Amino acid sequence: MTGAIGSTQYLKLSVFPTSPYYARVHVRRVLESWHRDDLIETAQLIASELVSNAITAHAACPDTAKAIPYADPDQIWMDLYRMGETVVLRVWDASPLTPVVRDPAPDDENGRGLHLVDLLATDWGYYRPTLGGKIVWCTLASPPSPREATEP
Ligand SMILES: Nc1ncnc2c1ncn2[C@@H]1O[C@H](COP(=O)(O)OP(=O)(O)O)[C@@H](O)[C@H]1O
Ligand SMILES: [Mg+2]
Repeated sequence: MTGAIGSTQYLKLSVFPTSPYYARVHVRRVLESWHRDDLIETAQLIASELVSNAITAHAACPDTAKAIPYADPDQIWMDLYRMGETVVLRVWDASPLTPVVRDPAPDDENGRGLHLVDLLATDWGYYRPTLGGKIVWCTLASPPSPREATEP
C-alpha cells in the first residue's frame, strides 16, 4: 500500500439506529467525489457493519466514553482517506472490548458482520489510539481486472 495520503473525510455519528444509513450516504458521497464508484457498494456494506458494531459497543460502555477526553458518550465517528489507489475506512468507538470473528451456527441471526468485512476488505484490523477507545479499520481496493489476474 503506497502513495500519498489524501484528505480525511470525517463524520460524527450518533449512537442511534439510523446512523448506519448516514454512514452509507457519507461513503457514497465521498467515493463519488473521488471517482471511486467501483468501491461504493462494498464500502457501504462494510461501513454499515462496522458502524452497527461500534454503536452497540459504544452504547454498552457509557462510563468509559465519558472518561475519554474529547469523546462524546453519544457519538462515534467514521472517516475515509486515500492512500494511493487504496481507500481506508475507519470507525471509532470507546469500547475496550475486542472485535471477534464469530463462528455462527447456520440458524444464528448474528455473528456474520465481521465475516463479511473479512471477505470484502483487502485487509482489516483494529488498534487503540493514544487518546482512548478503539479504531476498527479496513482497506479497500479494486479487484484486479480479469486480464491482470491471468497475466504472469
Ligand atoms: N467495535 C466493536 N467493539 C467491541 N466488540 C466488537 C466490535 N465489533 C465487533 N465486536 C465483537 O465481535 C463480535 C462479532 O461481530 P459481528 O461479526 O459483527 O457479529 P454481531 O454484530 O452480529 O455480533 C460481536 O458480537 C462483538 O462481540
Ligand atoms: Mg455486527
